[in-house]
Amino acid sequence: MYIGIDLGTSAVKLLLMDENGLVKCSVSREYPLYFPAPGWSEQNPEDWYRETMKGMQELLEGFDKEEVRGIGFSGQMHGLVVLDENDEVIRPAILWNDGRTGEECEYLNNVIGKKKLSEYTANIAFAGFTAPKLLWMRKHEPENFARIKKIMLPKDFLAYRLTGVHCTDVSDASGMLLLDVKKRTWSKEMCEICHIREDMLPKLFESSECVGTLLSGEAKMLGLSQDVKIAAGAGDNAAAAVAAGAVGDGNCNISLGTSGTVFISSSRFGVDENNALHAFCDANGAYHLMGCMLSAASCNKWWMDGIIGTKDYGKEQDKIEGLGENHVFYLPYLMGERSPHNNPNARAVFIGMTMDTTRADMTQAVLEGVAFALRDSLEVAKKMGIKTERTRICGGGAKSALWKKIIANVLRVKVEVLQAQEGPALGGAMLAAVACGAYESVEAAVAKIVRVVDAVEPEPWLADKYEQRYRQFQEIYPACKGLFELIK
Ligand code: XUL
Repeated sequence: MYIGIDLGTSAVKLLLMDENGLVKCSVSREYPLYFPAPGWSEQNPEDWYRETMKGMQELLEGFDKEEVRGIGFSGQMHGLVVLDENDEVIRPAILWNDGRTGEECEYLNNVIGKKKLSEYTANIAFAGFTAPKLLWMRKHEPENFARIKKIMLPKDFLAYRLTGVHCTDVSDASGMLLLDVKKRTWSKEMCEICHIREDMLPKLFESSECVGTLLSGEAKMLGLSQDVKIAAGAGDNAAAAVAAGAVGDGNCNISLGTSGTVFISSSRFGVDENNALHAFCDANGAYHLMGCMLSAASCNKWWMDGIIGTKDYGKEQDKIEGLGENHVFYLPYLMGERSPHNNPNARAVFIGMTMDTTRADMTQAVLEGVAFALRDSLEVAKKMGIKTERTRICGGGAKSALWKKIIANVLRVKVEVLQAQEGPALGGAMLAAVACGAYESVEAAVAKIVRVVDAVEPEPWLADKYEQRYRQFQEIYPACKGLFELIK
């Protein structure tokens, strides 16, 4: 059996999978997320480790631990974790949806210049990426910066604690703005620009490579054999794509989690002319393009739990009628926005309400606003000549039939629903199975394990209505952009 661990933003999700891909058990354990200032987002790596260990013990209860052969990771991308010479965490991790590095991104994109960044890394600077966070730390916390001995990504902190190997995989490393994505090696130029040494960075692996085995203390704590192999794993979107079977040229996966992503796998390396989409290494040895919005299902959670105060999402969605006819629009930029606007100062907006606007209209606007923003990323891919007629879908938001219908019609794509809903954690377990030799490649694991069980087709009459609404949606961000600067 294989364990998949997805180190998410709200919780760590763990699952136990047998060699045929059958999920035997899954558990999830939450930890706090801190917003110490507007637009900032941090977590404590020790919380990740503690809850992961507890989660593994819970997961394995009642199972024969001797059957566990491998562990594979998936994790929230881009977060900066820094350790000192005693392997102590220097400061809380600065996460992927943290917007504090506006000035550092300006410097990287405009002084170093987008052209050079793209040449060195295939990407430009976005506020959540890791390199600008290093520059921020150097400027604002020089004493912390001076103590840095090891730099790592969130899931790699777990791998380090479990194996003692300072490692990462190329898909996750792509989001650091320190990797030469095309060559799959660290960029010397970027290390210089960020004032770090290459020996501070983790050793690079492909996602389905084995990085090592369990340390004796950890093996004892978990009741597992010290021979259990640990796979490098992947960033959560690449891991989700493995679980969705979106590997291979042109295959698409949409993730409706805390973030929202449009992920397009590609056999060849390629970059769009404005670097609006991320060009990253894929978990199968190839590449992918990805648009990432910072708040997707989290907009719905914010609206439901925080604003209208309900946990019954289904009941609220049942009241929605008149798809394609809503006059209320919502810009989903609660944490600023990454793709395609690259603006940490963008904020969420409701517009278009009248005296007869209902709570259901507002709920509908939230679901539609997220779909329109996903379409923004798909439009960039379209301009690159990528035709997407179907997509897989995963993440908490994908449980809503209504939201899937809205997405199918706003994006005009067939949305395929998967048998296994576990997403990134399943991808992690599949990568472990490949690392242990149960499958000869990621593609072979996908062919055996991934099953599509349903599909939502776009309906031309509704897609046409949404086409018009999308055109209107596109006008709102440019009209608000100046205001976001004023109110920041
Ligand atoms: C991707 C990104 C998010 C996080 C969420 O670039 O920032 O999808 O990985 O966990």
